[in-house]
Amino acid sequence: MNKENILVAIDIGTAKISVILAEVDDLGDTHIIGFGEANSNGIEKGIITKPGELYKSIKEAVSLAEASSGFKISSAIINVGGPHLDFKNEKESLIFSTSQKEIDENDITALIEKVSTKVNKENYEVIHVIPKWYVLDEEDKVIDPVGLIANKLEGEFHIILNKSTNLNNIKRIVESAGIKIADFVATPIASANAVLYDEEKEMGVAVVDIGAGTTDIVIYKDGSPHFIKSLPIGGNQITMDIAHRFKLSKLEAENLKLQCSLASTEYILENDFIEVEIRGSEEKVQIERFEVVDTIEARLSEILEKIREQLENSGYYQKLNAGVVLTGGVANTGYIKDFAEKILEKDVRIGKPRNYKGFIDKLSFPQYATSIGIILFKKNALQKNEIESFNQPINLTEKFKSIFEKIKNMF
Ligand SMILES: Nc1ncnc2c1ncn2[C@@H]1O[C@H](COP(=O)(O)OP(=O)(O)OP(=O)(O)O)[C@@H](O)[C@H]1O
Ligand SMILES: [Mg+2]
Repeated sequence: MNKENILVAIDIGTAKISVILAEVDDLGDTHIIGFGEANSNGIEKGIITKPGELYKSIKEAVSLAEASSGFKISSAIINVGGPHLDFKNEKESLIFSTSQKEIDENDITALIEKVSTKVNKENYEVIHVIPKWYVLDEEDKVIDPVGLIANKLEGEFHIILNKSTNLNNIKRIVESAGIKIADFVATPIASANAVLYDEEKEMGVAVVDIGAGTTDIVIYKDGSPHFIKSLPIGGNQITMDIAHRFKLSKLEAENLKLQCSLASTEYILENDFIEVEIRGSEEKVQIERFEVVDTIEARLSEILEKIREQLENSGYYQKLNAGVVLTGGVANTGYIKDFAEKILEKDVRIGKPRNYKGFIDKLSFPQYATSIGIILFKKNALQKNEIESFNQPINLTEKFKSIFEKIKNMF
């Protein structure tokens, strides 16, 4: 297999590790060609608690993805998130010595380097510098200034940082599994790339990825991210509430939760009793569906209240004209859209990953937004770098040829 056009993503989550291999074709379409998944152990609420366990989980997921694709994975793009993420919105400018300077890619690179140095924060590393817009000669706001003439180029950027120690720890664990890290992508940015439509990014939208241990939020406005936040809350809390209330193991509680997956008791059509087998004993217990859903509702409403609080604190709540897109495993909960609309008082839709081919039956679920999003984010970033033709029509095949060059260089 030609390995030059293949991107590998590893989503290190609290519940699962997902590994996806994708091939980018001559037209820039993304084809998933391999998938592997393992239960995740050793990471809680975005914090690595047992490196040895995490290593084993990554190894297992990688082996399954290799078996599924017939491709040996030597390098991958990894997500980072949790409490180690931080962001800044920052402006920076370049003043040219000539007033008739035609702006080229090198100027953009210089500006990005300048702004990255400016936000330098002790013990943090910059992982993304995402342009919001540029201003030419303090007048014209443009999205892509390359090829335009100006004396002064100013840019406003959304910059995402992550704690260096966390990056180094992930690096050590992944590398000890024999995999080089080609790049890091912030979890909320990855998820947003898989589920959002461009119009939503323009209008103002929040993507909320509710996983097992973390809830990752990103707000887009005018086409780019403006705010990110990771909260240490998620589906595991619901599972643990059920485990405590009905005195079940975590696994039994998780199964019971999935069997009764409704956001609120108001959506129960028929109340009944569910028989739960208790592991390691002959005993079976009867649990009322209403009580399980009541437990889910209590914690889910608390999680959604906390999300609302963050959206309000961000200062963008009133600007979310396209509402909220819920993704991550918890977004599978029955009627969560209706329930969340009441608490958030915004339009809500469930975000499933889009814009890829292959493995659709397996991956078209909210819990794969991050892994598919890692691939799409990287592909788009490589693609964007190629858009230098100002007046000329873009030759897609030529453009992606050079993207392949870049992908090749990552391995
Ligand atoms: N149908 C469902 N109903 C309710 N909850 C569900 C359903 N499917 C999955 N979940 C929950 O979603 C959570 C897992 O989501 P996901 O796979 O997105 O997490 P993760 O990416 O591993 O974790 P994190 O992003 O928090 O590190 C679990 O708590 C699981 O119980
Ligand atoms: Mg996740």
